[in-house]
Amino acid sequence: MADSDPRMSQTFSIAVRRWYDANARDLPWRRPDVTPWGVLVSEVMLQQTPVARVVPAWAAWLSRWPVPADLAAAAPGEAVREWGRLGYPRRALRLHEAATAMVERHGGRVPAAYDELIALPGVGSYTAAAVAVFGFGARHEVLDTNVRRVHARVFGGRADATTAGPTRDERDAALALVPFDEPAHHCVAVMELGALVCTARTPRCGACPVADACAWLAAGRPDGMSSRRPQAYAGTDRQVRGRLLAVLRESADVVAKPALDLVWEDETQRERSLAGLVADGLVEPVGDGQYRLPT
Ligand code: ADE
Repeated sequence: MADSDPRMSQTFSIAVRRWYDANARDLPWRRPDVTPWGVLVSEVMLQQTPVARVVPAWAAWLSRWPVPADLAAAAPGEAVREWGRLGYPRRALRLHEAATAMVERHGGRVPAAYDELIALPGVGSYTAAAVAVFGFGARHEVLDTNVRRVHARVFGGRADATTAGPTRDERDAALALVPFDEPAHHCVAVMELGALVCTARTPRCGACPVADACAWLAAGRPDGMSSRRPQAYAGTDRQVRGRLLAVLRESADVVAKPALDLVWEDETQRERSLAGLVADGLVEPVGDGQYRLPT
């Protein structure tokens, strides 16, 4: 992402914030009464799950565990159970560990400082920045894939970011865009623009508030290297793991191996998937060929 002059940064941010005010989705974690814990839970869920599936899961999670201490007091297996079908269930275990760490280190509160946030289990640079900004109003760059794509296009003239993660220069340039008076408004607005207008495959440049400043549009929208295909699911170990875990979630008690064996024909793949769940701490063997969610 190229450096831009402060006037251009300001024009960009103002235009995107104005667009956001008129076009944003009313998502529950964006409402003003949401706690930093609510923000953290939303960001972890949204990392790998679409918004429509997160909305009900997020509400159920927070009504069951309104503060981190409530989750920390529950068994980790309950977090896995409540996670349901959101996918990538290790996130549930990490959230439980993070809640425990917040009780131990921060009096049960979500810490406000980026360095303390990123030290929590399962919290990377994106999530730490998002919680600091959306939960506490701090001023950081928040760089998810949508935001990186918007910046790459408008300022870089490229279809997308070219590195797997943000570079130092990219971070610095992104931070320079964030206004001191409304950091959260700016960050969520750019994110929403990337989600709704400046999308990966079918950008709607006609609806874009910064189209006249966009280097990529001016260059005739040159192609990127390749568009990432969604990960396959059918037939993968992920699918098998999902089925095994579903059986355990739906049982209040221990589950005997024969019940697990019913979910998948191929024994090798089934055993490998079960062993993977055990290795990840998502499933606990209790002897006698019985299994349960972790206690
Ligand atoms: N609002 C704040 N963070 C968000 C995210 N990661 N996805 C969608 N909306 C959000």
